[in-house]
Amino acid sequence: MARVKNRAAADVMWGVMLLMQMMGLIRSFNFGIGGVDGLRMDYYFMSCPFAEQIVWNSVTSALQSDPTLAAGLLRMHFHDCFIQGCDGSVLLDSTKDNTAEKDSPANLSLRGYEVIDDAKEQIEEQCPGVVSCADILAMAARDAVFWAGGPRYEIPKGRKDGARSRIEDTINLPSPTFNASELIRMFGQHGFSAQEMVALSGGHTLGVARCSSFKQRLSNSDPTLDSSFAKTLSKTCSAGDNAEQPFDATRNTFDGAYYYGLVNKVGVLTSDQTLFASARTKGIVNGYAMNQAMFFFDFQQAMLKMSLLDVKEGSAGQVRLNCRKIN
Ligand code: HEM
Ligand SMILES: *[C@@H]1O[C@H](CO)[C@@H](O)[C@H](O)[C@H]1NC(C)=O
Ligand SMILES: *[C@@H]1O[C@H](CO)[C@@H](O)[C@H](O)[C@H]1NC(C)=O
Repeated sequence: MARVKNRAAADVMWGVMLLMQMMGLIRSFNFGIGGVDGLRMDYYFMSCPFAEQIVWNSVTSALQSDPTLAAGLLRMHFHDCFIQGCDGSVLLDSTKDNTAEKDSPANLSLRGYEVIDDAKEQIEEQCPGVVSCADILAMAARDAVFWAGGPRYEIPKGRKDGARSRIEDTINLPSPTFNASELIRMFGQHGFSAQEMVALSGGHTLGVARCSSFKQRLSNSDPTLDSSFAKTLSKTCSAGDNAEQPFDATRNTFDGAYYYGLVNKVGVLTSDQTLFASARTKGIVNGYAMNQAMFFFDFQQAMLKMSLLDVKEGSAGQVRLNCRKIN
């Protein structure tokens, strides 16, 4: 019931936002971040005014039938942005001559491609060749977070789609066996602070990991892992490498449960639990576990920043007509 109400409220909010946009109230809100000034909040205001609404409708209708897709969409946006920038490269299918990112072992459980295809098809009907797949994915991830109970934030649009998607580039994704120093270093290479890295890891408040991503923790005794939770993980793994373990107690709800879990030593991946085990990040985890509003605030700021990683503007990219193929 709460969820239904939430959605009705969200629809009203959308209406209000659309009105504001039409009244020009947020029309001239430009983004003054160096290098991305081609992106704007109102980028599609004239060329495709209903783009945001169409994405929201596609996301909500998909999540109503499968709430677990919220996690899929969020993760897909993260993978997109960390490899070649947020340019929709994760959406490209492999071809005869090229094995794409999505076919790397690191694609693991990437899910939600159909939601992007659905939004793209509807948008193409209204405004052909205008709205990039990278923007659709960024909006869809944002909407999925909100739908699942997380914060709602605005993102500038105008990303162009890239043409490169190669399996070997996925080496730049963080590994689930990383310790805090390695995570800080890798996220640092993308311009994130340790605090932003911890906030972004909170994306694991949604979804699941498969046994193959954490089983290495079970073979030798891991002092950062609660002993009865170790049994839970082993039990999950008894069903095989693809068996799924929710990251926290509320896998489809965007909340602070991921961080309480870390405080209670029931984080699933090494890269999760290390955030509480390491002195460099423990205080941040404690802070988010105690104050969900602070987590939400930092998460939305960090997501906005992530959504702008190495974006391609203007002629540096294209607007794909089909998100799975370059034009
Ligand atoms: C900090 C470094 C990170 C590492 C090492 C990492 C690693 C992983 C791994 C191994 C999985 C499970 C895949 C599987 O076993 O099938 C996963 C799932 C997931 N990750 Fe991350 N991740 C990281 C950061 C992020 C960030 C920044 C986000 C988004 C903001 C994110 C969102 C997700 C989501 C939502 C899932 C669940 C997917 C589903 O249920 O379909 N992760 N991640
Ligand atoms: C992930 O990659 C494997 C190959 O490693 C491929 O068989 C599978 O279809 C890919 N999954 C998705 C969702 O693209
Ligand atoms: C983290 O991992 C790196 C690389 O494996 C290692 O050199 C370093 O000592 C580790 N740091 C801690 C605190 O365990």
